[in-house]
Amino acid sequence: MIVRLRAALAIVLSIVPLGMAVAQTDVERGQTLASGMCGGCHAIGQTGASPHANAPAFRQLDDHVDLDVFVDLLREGLQSTHADMPSFRFSRGDARAIVAYLRSIQGP
Ligand code: HEC
Repeated sequence: MIVRLRAALAIVLSIVPLGMAVAQTDVERGQTLASGMCGGCHAIGQTGASPHANAPAFRQLDDHVDLDVFVDLLREGLQSTHADMPSFRFSRGDARAIVAYLRSIQGP
């Protein structure tokens, strides 16, 4: 039993750093996507104002949208009621990357 627990622990310990590396990559990819596709209007960093006055800063998106639901929105086609904002549709991987990035920058 103890041997099994040790083995399980060893497996968990070897997976965790790998998982973190993957998350890091997602965040970086999300940042690239956000700056390329959204940064023209939205402030995508942890500081700074949005280039488009009406576009909410991404670090405050948490106040507007539920990020858990946001992945699906990005997949199905993100549409804003605002004519200024084009609609987007992302692959599952890209949607996950963008949300991973958004989570990483949310303000208090
Ligand atoms: C051409 C300008 C423009 C681009 C590019 C743009 N947006 Fe927007 N976005 C806006 C404006 C303006 C608003 C605010 C008005 C509104 O909510 O309809 C907005 C609002 C939003 C909102 C808030 C909706 C809410 O209910 O508060 C989200 C989320 C959002 N954008 C995500 C994105 C993402 C993700 C991208 C890139 C994939 C993006 N936007 C690219 C202009 C833009």
